Amino acid sequence: MKIVTTLSDLRADRQLLSGSVGFVPTMGFLHSGHISLVEAAKNECAGVVASIFVNPTQFGPNEDLANYPRDLPHDLALLETAGVDLVWTPTVEVMYPTGFQTWVQVEKLTQRLEGEVRPGHFRGVTTVVAKLFNAVGPDRAYFGQKDAQQAAVVRRMTRDLDFPVEIVVCPTLREPDGLAMSSRNTYLNSEQRRAATILFRALSAAKSAYDSGERGAEKLRELVSAAVAAEPLAKLQYVSCSDYDSLEELVSVSGKAMISMAVFMGKTRLIDNFVIGG
Ligand code: PAJ
Repeated sequence: MKIVTTLSDLRADRQLLSGSVGFVPTMGFLHSGHISLVEAAKNECAGVVASIFVNPTQFGPNEDLANYPRDLPHDLALLETAGVDLVWTPTVEVMYPTGFQTWVQVEKLTQRLEGEVRPGHFRGVTTVVAKLFNAVGPDRAYFGQKDAQQAAVVRRMTRDLDFPVEIVVCPTLREPDGLAMSSRNTYLNSEQRRAATILFRALSAAKSAYDSGERGAEKLRELVSAAVAAEPLAKLQYVSCSDYDSLEELVSVSGKAMISMAVFMGKTRLIDNFVIGG
């Protein structure tokens, strides 16, 4: 496995990969969820490139950039075991050289949900993902359903800017008790960690109502809110029942849709979603 930092080294080593290339962009502190994306890429592509870059422009002023967990040696060991060919670990100076002032923004899809409570977040995500795509030139790029809005926004950007990249969205990997794997889970104390299963339980309640025939979006949202209200350590920030692609809030569920939510456990913010219908 080759590890490179500069853009010129990345380009040189990318050229040496023959056949289709799968790309897995990450911010490091890798867990099995990230590795499942690498495995999907391994199965479908001749070569696999991963990036590790804690992207400062997608963090808000009150968010956890400085404290974002990092463990490069562990990340590299996991990527090596998973069979990655090339890892790019650019520095902030490589990605955002002095004078940087060009941004990529998906307008409508980013106004709601995560975009509404994290202003500027998706502008940072799409800008860095566009730069990563330009540098790596992958045939396919792998994203997790865990960050459903991010996946929708990246799909839109890819179509709108004609990147010749197929966006592959992989299922959310969960702990045995249902908690979606996330680097942010490490911030939870043991009590909060136990209570954090509320996201999975609340989404499961809505999903089983859907499976029993409930199609009213407001009813499904209410089931999630009621479940979270019963967990004293959790504070619901939003719950949504939206169209899978447009992210528009639904009145009733007919096609592919998504129930998504954000919850505070103390200071830690957790997100999760289930896909229904379609
Ligand atoms: P990061 O949070 O490191 O996540 C990298 C990829 O792993 C994302 O596509 C995310 O959806 C996926 N992922 C995270 N947890 C997962 C889980 N439990 N199961 C399956 N996939 C999971 O998302 C980012 O980084 C950044 O925004 C990035 C796209 C790299 C741009 O900076």
